[in-house]
Amino acid sequence: MADFKTFPHWDTITEEFINGQRKVEDVNQYELLIELVAFHERCYYVYNDALISDLKFDQLFKLLKVFEQSHPERLLEHSPTQRVGSDLSEEAPSVEHLNPMLSLENSYNAEDLLEWDQQIKRLLQLPANMAIEYAIEPKFDGGSIALVYENDLLVRAATRGNGVLGEEITANAKAIRSIPMSAKFSDLGILKAELRGEVLIRKDVFASLNEKRKEENIAFFNETGKENKIPLFANARNTATGGLRMKDPKEVAKRGMEAFIYTFGYAVDANNENVLSKFTSHHESMDILSNLGFKVPGAEREVCKNIEEVIKKCENWQIQRDTYPYEIDGMVVKVDARDLQERAGFTAHHPRWAIAFKFKAQQAQSELLDVEYQVGKIGTITPVAKIKPTELAGVTIRSISLHNEDFITSKDLRIGDAILIERAGDVIPYISKSFPELRDGSEKMIQFPVHCPVNQTETLVLLVREQGESAWRCPQCVCGAQNLQRIIFHVSKEAMDIDGLGASIVERFFDLGFIKSLPDIYNLPYEKLIQLDNFKEKSINNLKNAIDKAKTNPIHRFLYSLGIHHLGKKASRLLAYEIDNVLELASWNKDRFLQIKDIGPVVADNVIAFFQDQANIALLEKLEELGVNLKATIEDRPKEVNADSPFNGKTILFTGTLMVMGRKEAQEKAEMAGAKNISAVSSNLDFLVVGEKAGSKRKKAEEIPSITILTENEFIALLNSETSS
Ligand code: IVH
Repeated sequence: MADFKTFPHWDTITEEFINGQRKVEDVNQYELLIELVAFHERCYYVYNDALISDLKFDQLFKLLKVFEQSHPERLLEHSPTQRVGSDLSEEAPSVEHLNPMLSLENSYNAEDLLEWDQQIKRLLQLPANMAIEYAIEPKFDGGSIALVYENDLLVRAATRGNGVLGEEITANAKAIRSIPMSAKFSDLGILKAELRGEVLIRKDVFASLNEKRKEENIAFFNETGKENKIPLFANARNTATGGLRMKDPKEVAKRGMEAFIYTFGYAVDANNENVLSKFTSHHESMDILSNLGFKVPGAEREVCKNIEEVIKKCENWQIQRDTYPYEIDGMVVKVDARDLQERAGFTAHHPRWAIAFKFKAQQAQSELLDVEYQVGKIGTITPVAKIKPTELAGVTIRSISLHNEDFITSKDLRIGDAILIERAGDVIPYISKSFPELRDGSEKMIQFPVHCPVNQTETLVLLVREQGESAWRCPQCVCGAQNLQRIIFHVSKEAMDIDGLGASIVERFFDLGFIKSLPDIYNLPYEKLIQLDNFKEKSINNLKNAIDKAKTNPIHRFLYSLGIHHLGKKASRLLAYEIDNVLELASWNKDRFLQIKDIGPVVADNVIAFFQDQANIALLEKLEELGVNLKATIEDRPKEVNADSPFNGKTILFTGTLMVMGRKEAQEKAEMAGAKNISAVSSNLDFLVVGEKAGSKRKKAEEIPSITILTENEFIALLNSETSS
């Protein structure tokens, strides 16, 4: 099975598609382009780590679209053109948006905008020389949200997700002060509304968040003599999108996030009639929202008389973008008149009445001073360019990832070269080219190392590069850098999920010699922790509890946490389905692995290699001795829905504080019993489970006779009656 985080030679293949050397119509190239675009989408939306500029991504996407339009018979259902884009994490509780949250079409220059203006007039059958009024406003570069208000109260907030389903983040939204908890929609005759907006962190607030982290680092330095133990936030956008998904709303409040609302997504009156057409224009609906207490773009929101004025203003904004207090990556142009919007309508992907004007990537010239090599979790060697510190879009850039050896070769980079840097997606710095014409002969070729750059004290370890892979790897997982990365990965949220043991604390414990390898995590010298700054009895207890909890994790998490090359989350689950104990895998041959649908030879080979190494078997035994669970649990079995369950096919909602099980656990159990979790009380709801301090939801449910109201104990009793029958 493919490792979804890597795509061999993505850089060369991307360039070849864009410059036409590689053609979509040639054998197998359409499938390859789908995989490539899907890979870039994942980097951007899932890993928050864009590798190419928006412009390049759009070019690739367009190649796909154009090909599919002219060869509809070859269209593959899983093509990225067939959906709106996803940031859903596997385990998040998801909710359905009242209307899909679409994207925007992009434009990059005056011609694109003129063409779009003409296109709208053709569509609406208006004369080509007629002026349409357009509203323009900044295109905010943060995290999209959808807020649902019912009976004037904020009842639900969600991220954009894949456009149809989003992650529910109501508690976090409530920690954002610019989001009103209630608003007088009833004055407008609106019973239920969904608003769309963007969550952002102001540039100066972002800078002070990092200042605070630096101060904490200095305090840490004074105490331990070591530097930089808390990684700084990379950029405001990721800090905001990450902030939206944090577990603790109190932490959300500390990030100083704000929400700008930029459109209504849905609004109905008491008779369930759409009331959006009551507003005559976009600017009027924004004024109304502003009056209701929402933060909407202020003076930067303007109505232009015609497309020429739009172009002038957009080009002006491009020059001035740095002076705006928030990160923006373009302007959004919207047909102002509501009736024209309605006539223009939507495609499956975007409204036809709006378009984004994307700013050009910000660029600066710098110099390549040196290349350093980092060793990752599975020994992957990543070259990192150290460059002359250079200001780019308000941030000082000192180092930039060079991805792999092929990237260095394809860009013809030498130490001492003048280079052009830009921020891809306006976030991740990227070396777009070198200037060979400026060389004076003193530049040096970059020698990719032959041996592991970290493990040099004892015998040198030769790096390996497997066929079809773009990265060189150190085949031995014993050296410090790898071991540290491996431990950080093991405790991470997606793996063993040990709360309170984030990367910075693991590094600190590593430096102090408390954690040298995985078993040490489960055998921490708690008595020494109390002497450390920031470690009070309470936090030590919490850490202990989190570690004890991790010991009981299902084995699919444990397998994934081992960081075996190519063994992803899904494959770990598939393996866990088939075994009672992790150690059983040591006796499996390749055929046994290949009997499992979706497990391929690459995963099989890597798992076999892991279990053939006696040091790894000793490691597993040591972990088991320390209490880490290696036996399959009920959560390692495929979920089967009991058709006789009273919850099967029903909808359910939990409200108030549950005393016996956590909300998430209760929701999962209900789901396993065939129920669907929904978020609002209405006649569509079958069961409302009320915990302590249940409030308005309970009251409302009592008025709807078709809803069965259960206490937590009654819910558990019903669940159990179902499992014992
Ligand atoms: S209007 C029906 N206005 O851009 C779609 N979107 O590429 C209406 N965005 O995910 C979108 N600022 O979150 C609109 N002023 C603005 C915006 C904006 C940022 C985001 C939005 C969406 C993305 C589309």
